[in-house]
Amino acid sequence: MTGKTSVITKEQLDIQLAFCDKVKAYWHSTGTTPTAYVETYGCQQNEADSERIRGILIESGYAIVGEAEGADVVVMNTCAIREHAEQRVFGNLGALTHTKRRHPGQKIFLCGCMAGQEVVVNRIKNSYPHVDGVFSTHHLWQFPEILSRVLLTGKRTFFTEDEAGSIAEGLPQNRDSGLKAWVSIMYGCNNFCTYCIVPYVRGRERSRKWEDILAECKALVESGVKDITLLGQNVNSYGKDLDQGVDFADLLAKIAQLPGDFLIRFMTSHPRDASKKLFDTMAKYPKIAKQLHLPFQSGSSRVLKAMNRHYDREKYLEAVNYAKSVMPELVLTSDVIVGFPGETEAEFEETISLVEQVQYDSLFTFIFSPRPGTPAYTMEDPTPKAEKNRRFDRLCAVQNGISEELHNAYIGKTLRCLIDGKDKEFLTARTEGGRLVRLTGDDSLIGTFAPITITGATTWSLKGRMEDDGNQV
Ligand code: SAH
Ligand code: SF4
Ligand code: F3S
Repeated sequence: MTGKTSVITKEQLDIQLAFCDKVKAYWHSTGTTPTAYVETYGCQQNEADSERIRGILIESGYAIVGEAEGADVVVMNTCAIREHAEQRVFGNLGALTHTKRRHPGQKIFLCGCMAGQEVVVNRIKNSYPHVDGVFSTHHLWQFPEILSRVLLTGKRTFFTEDEAGSIAEGLPQNRDSGLKAWVSIMYGCNNFCTYCIVPYVRGRERSRKWEDILAECKALVESGVKDITLLGQNVNSYGKDLDQGVDFADLLAKIAQLPGDFLIRFMTSHPRDASKKLFDTMAKYPKIAKQLHLPFQSGSSRVLKAMNRHYDREKYLEAVNYAKSVMPELVLTSDVIVGFPGETEAEFEETISLVEQVQYDSLFTFIFSPRPGTPAYTMEDPTPKAEKNRRFDRLCAVQNGISEELHNAYIGKTLRCLIDGKDKEFLTARTEGGRLVRLTGDDSLIGTFAPITITGATTWSLKGRMEDDGNQV
């Protein structure tokens, strides 16, 4: 990791936009409209980055299409969080040799978190000659330059030097939805949890200025967006790198006071800096959704220490209990890792007991995956795979029972939901806490908040009926 955070200047950005014009002019001269396909793996941060990648492609004259076959550009925006995620990317990348054979002009790019690892970059260089360009997350803002160079010179291009990271305001963006929006408030991570690759591939924590974030949220709400999710690996440490006197709770309060009918949520909150001030702020403003994703990772204080999480079981439970006390309706979700190196059966049972105690609405459960370069990679790990699988299945069974019970408790309640889309013949809606509701109703309701009475439940979703119109699933 070299250098310090750089803020991309307006001049640097203009140079990149000029590359977009160059690519556009090239295609114009051929008389064709080129097409591009962007495949996204991993978390919401990558989803948000893909919106920028598509924005740049559109600015360069491309039409976005839904498959790699026949596309002039394919971008794989990758995730490195677990080995399985990487294997999937390598598999799908291999398959692109065929789409390229059928369409030899196809230009293939790989970016995202995998491109931040030297071993991956070398493997692409040596074994995947059909990949034309590779750029890490630090270089996303230079995608126009990379695209132009690959297209106009035919040279393979790698922008993968390790950097502390950059902040680029004003890149073109093609948002997935007019109703919901991701807003990155910060990039990178300083926590170095011992199992995690993210700090190595996304660089140091760096916060956007609150004025820029507020202006973006304001514009989104004015354009009709109803649901904004603020993104960061550790939103609670927002602003610590800036001398602006605005912490995450202050930022939330500012956004929540914007005029308009909308909800604001955020992820991910690290329990280490989850403060009473944050929970009080959530409780105070109606526009802040009463939803909290607070990953605990393990119920054992010994394992948490080995993970370098900087909180123990007691401190975590204290934070959750306080949050629940000021927001009785809070919907709580979490991430948990099973089979961290050296986790004993008794320590795993502490995870189960924490899950039973807290009663999460849902959990994201993972089996530990050793990531080369992280401290946990070389930790002694005597537990056999079959045993880890058994623990994982047990945890999922316990959580499924809890989710089902909590979902059943919704039956008969009437909740204000945002009707956000369609899934086959049903409308889909989200409760304020982010739970999925299916109902029947007219398409014209999409994009509105409405009271919905819950009539049924499964482990994963709810069924409901609009108040007034008598429609029911
Ligand atoms: N910044 C977030 C997490 C981002 S990664 C936080 O700290 O909460 C999303 C989740 O992936 C993590 O919460 C963790 O549960 C899981 N994860 C990360 N690295 C992993 C690994 N090496 N093996 C298994 N799960 C992992
Ligand atoms: Fe990874 Fe920990 Fe940072 Fe989350 S807080 S991204 S788990 S290092
Ligand atoms: Fe994956 Fe990178 Fe997100 S590693 S989980 S895409 S930050």
